[in-house]
Parts: sequence; C-alpha cells; structure tokens
Amino acid sequence: MTALKDLIGFHFEKPTQEELEKLKISEEEDRKKESIKRTNAFIERKIGLEFVGKVFNGFEFQTEDIRKQAVNFLENQDRDFIVFNGKPGTGKTHLAAALIYRFVTKSINSGKSIEQTLSEVNYFRASDFIETIKNMWKHGEDTEYYIKFQNNFKFLIIDEVGVSYGTETEENIFNRLIDDRYRNRKGKTIIISNLDESGLEKYIGFRSLSRIYQRGIICNFQGSDKRAVKKITIAG
Ligand SMILES: Nc1ncnc2c1ncn2[C@@H]1O[C@H](COP(=O)(O)OP(=O)(O)OP(=O)(O)O)[C@@H](O)[C@H]1O
Ligand SMILES: [Mg+2]
Repeated sequence: MTALKDLIGFHFEKPTQEELEKLKISEEEDRKKESIKRTNAFIERKIGLEFVGKVFNGFEFQTEDIRKQAVNFLENQDRDFIVFNGKPGTGKTHLAAALIYRFVTKSINSGKSIEQTLSEVNYFRASDFIETIKNMWKHGEDTEYYIKFQNNFKFLIIDEVGVSYGTETEENIFNRLIDDRYRNRKGKTIIISNLDESGLEKYIGFRSLSRIYQRGIICNFQGSDKRAVKKITIAG
C-alpha cells in the first residue's frame, strides 16, 4: 500500500508538544495585539486621539492615596463609584482612559473576547448625554429606555459633569442614571468633573451624591495644569 507521505509528497508528522505550545503562545500574542488595536480605536472614537495609549505607566500620581484608589478601583468590591474632580489639565480623563485599558486587559486575560469586552464599556461627556436625551424628547423617542440602557455597561465613564447648564431637568436625568446604577450594582462608574463637592451637589443633586458617598470614592485632584507645561509664549 502507498504510504501517505508518498501520496502528499512530504512526511507529515504529528506536532511535538513543544511546537503546540509555541503555536498557542503565538495565537495568544496575536489575540493580545488585536485587543490593543481595537482598544486604541475605541479610545480614539469615544474619547479622542489624545488619549490613545494613556495608561498608568507614565502617569504622575499626585498622592499615593489617589494611586491606590484609582489602580484598585476595578477590584474594589465595596466601591462602585469613583469621582475624579479638580482643575483642568490635572489628568482626570487620562486616568479614566488608563482604567479602560486596565478593564480590557483584565477581561481579555480572563478569556473574554475583545468584542464582548468593549461592548461592556461606555464613555460619554455629560453634555452629549443630555443633548441626546433632549433630541430624543423632541422626536418623541423613549428616553427612559436610553437611560436604563446605561445600566447594561459594566464600566461607565461620565466625563465633564457640570459643564452644561445644570438645570433641574439635568439633575433629574443624572439622578435616574446614578440611582439605577446604585440599585443594580451591575458595574463600575467614574464621574469626572471640574466642580468641587458642593458644586457637584448643586449639579447632580444631593440624592445622587448621597449614593456616591455610600459606595464611592471621591478623588480630589490637587495638581497643577499639565497642559500649561507645554505652553509656548512668544513676545512680539
Ligand atoms: N498627572 C499626570 N501625569 C501624566 N500626564 C498628565 C497628568 N495630568 C495630565 N496629564 C496629561 O495632560 C493632558 C491633559 O490631561 P487630561 O485631559 O486628563 O486633564 P483633565 O483633568 O481631564 O482636564 P479637564 O478637566 O480640562 O478635562 C493629557 O495629555 C494628559 O496625558
Ligand atoms: Mg478631561
């Protein structure tokens, strides 16, 4: 009988354990590379090109306490909310991007696909969220569903809270959003603002803040504006 190797022209050998291991490692590396690529695209689309690749590495933490609380936030079972508040250019959005990268890394390492992982994260600016809701009202669409939908995200980042008008309607919208996430405990929420605590209370209301106090951490960024370091002044 003709041997298989004569028929196909080469001798097929079962891969060794070592070869199989190598293949597995290279597949895993490809998967990680693809995940980084997709996450970069996600960050660019949702937050902006400026924040692509902004991870913990290279971030100058102002205090050891902020470092500890921020880095461990995703693992912290007791705390579902974290507030980053402080002056412009102190790294609040950078730190939120770093936490998205961390969330993705953890999720990928646990075996989840990058598609599934990224579908569990949402980022928006508060003013864009309010704008969307107002537009939906205009068109008679179901805003209740849209607010409740934000509950599905395991990781939600609300940036630039306090930049828009701060009307009673806006306070109500935030109250519903935060209360839903507070009740369901399905995920983590970052709230970013330039407002101090009393400003935040006026904007999102004490009911929201009370829920954040119980199950959140307030990180008050005290540093200086890192953007100003790059300032170029030319005398004319
Ligand atoms: N502590 C820091 N370490 C390293 N880079 C920083 C730090 N703080 C700010 N930066 C850099 O400075 C720039 C501005 O930071 P970022 O946009 O995160 O500030 P912000 O606090 O969100 O400001 P704003 O309140 O105006 O939105 C970014 O490029 C960021 O990477
Ligand atoms: Mg910012």
